[in-house]
Amino acid sequence: MDLILHIILLSFRLSNAILCKTSFDPDEYWQALEVAHRRTYGYGYLTWEWHTQLRSYLFPYVFECLYRVISFFGEFEYSRLLLILCPRLLMAVLAYMTDVYTFKICHILFGRMTAVICLYLQITSWFIFYAITRTFINSFETFLVVIIFYLFCQLMVGNYSIRDTGLRLAMLLTLIGLVCYLRPTAVPCISLYFIVLYFSSLSVSYKLILSIVVTLILSSILISTESLLYGKLAIPFYNFLNVNVVSGIASLYGTHSLHWYLTQCLPVFLITNIPAFIIGIIFVIKGSHPVGNEHIIIKLALLGLILLNLVLLSPVPHKEFRFLLPMLPFCHILTAKGIYVIDNNTRKHRLISLFKKLLLFLSLLQIPMSFYFGFIHQRGVIRVMDYLYGHISVEDQVLFLMPCHSTPLYSHIHKNATLQFLECSPPLYEPVDRAKLFYNNVNSQTDSLLSNGYSYVTCFSTLSEEINGLLAKKGFQKKAEIFHTHLPEGRIGSYVHVYKKIG
Ligand SMILES: *[C@@H]1O[C@H](CO)[C@@H](O)[C@H](O)[C@H]1NC(C)=O
Repeated sequence: MDLILHIILLSFRLSNAILCKTSFDPDEYWQALEVAHRRTYGYGYLTWEWHTQLRSYLFPYVFECLYRVISFFGEFEYSRLLLILCPRLLMAVLAYMTDVYTFKICHILFGRMTAVICLYLQITSWFIFYAITRTFINSFETFLVVIIFYLFCQLMVGNYSIRDTGLRLAMLLTLIGLVCYLRPTAVPCISLYFIVLYFSSLSVSYKLILSIVVTLILSSILISTESLLYGKLAIPFYNFLNVNVVSGIASLYGTHSLHWYLTQCLPVFLITNIPAFIIGIIFVIKGSHPVGNEHIIIKLALLGLILLNLVLLSPVPHKEFRFLLPMLPFCHILTAKGIYVIDNNTRKHRLISLFKKLLLFLSLLQIPMSFYFGFIHQRGVIRVMDYLYGHISVEDQVLFLMPCHSTPLYSHIHKNATLQFLECSPPLYEPVDRAKLFYNNVNSQTDSLLSNGYSYVTCFSTLSEEINGLLAKKGFQKKAEIFHTHLPEGRIGSYVHVYKKIG
């Protein structure tokens, strides 16, 4: 790739990060920025996962480092802006590298033309635009998995000396260990390591010793870093598996049918690219008899990786779009092949090459979607934090009468004011579900909450219809109506309202 293309790709993802101003999923703030803010500035909200050592500090620690650099310069006019922007810009750089390495993998497997189509799909993909520059662990996982697969390709096709092969193997195993440690659902990546081992010409004892040594070193580094960050011995990986698999707490956050990833998630990801995706898969399967050279093995490994992920994720009742995000670049590689094949593998026919152009053109339709979801859909809960930042002081007390974790918190206000919301830890950890209690009896609950002397109340328009009278009686005045979404649903209204106590 030329330098100019790199600059374009990097600027694209950086603008992606700056422009995307909507909220997608609470984890973006609550499992990353909020934790980093708490550790850097001494205030910030830790959800129950952190008190029970369920999450790894490693990922928020990345942002903590950024925050510490910013806090080094003290408080200045733009510190809040930087606290919000810098983590996103960092994710944008990783997203850019994800794009570049997806291109490189596709280049190794299918040649330059297909790789260019793949890059085009990657850039136009609405879901990647929407999700990848957010501070989700899934975006980070996507980056790691793509790098891992690239290393895997290199090891399969490259001709390295024993020393270089050893180094690359160690690097591959380290990255796989890291991604599995951060996201236990990334275990299918381990299969890549075994494939490389199987086909490499190194001696068995060398492979064995290398694997054991790297695993031991990596585990001790991970556990000791984690324990240092937690301040006591901690193995969140184990706790996470225990809580999510054994006690099934995750299903409290919604369940979906078994085939949801296949029948809902993938179609939403690929939309008009579905036919080309299927053609790509068929082409790879048809082209792999007999299983001869390394390229065919890599292609099958790519297919296998997607399949294993689907098989592993599908039985878990709690499903989310972003859990499948790491597979999307690989789906684009297959889709790109599908589009390429349509034109080249059959006798040249005008209709067929028209079909290919149509498929390429239809991808452009995802751009309006990127804009809609990136700028408009669910933007109120972010804007309201800008509003509050501009209006409240440290003495103020703000009450968020919204479903729990609807807005970001201290990471976006950056003032140590009292911010209260309706908490909703799973029943094991807090005996009362305050959000449920609240919504069952809105008026009397609001009444009793307001006796705590709040100066601001923030709620969705659906709720304010109900408690408008009560708020007025208590001396609250509506100060702002901020647009949130065109698709209100249940407790989520189209607008976010801010009330202020007068006098
Ligand atoms: C933030 O405010 C709370 C409550 O007013 C206080 O207990 C805490 O010490 C403050 N933290 C910092 C770092 O200022």
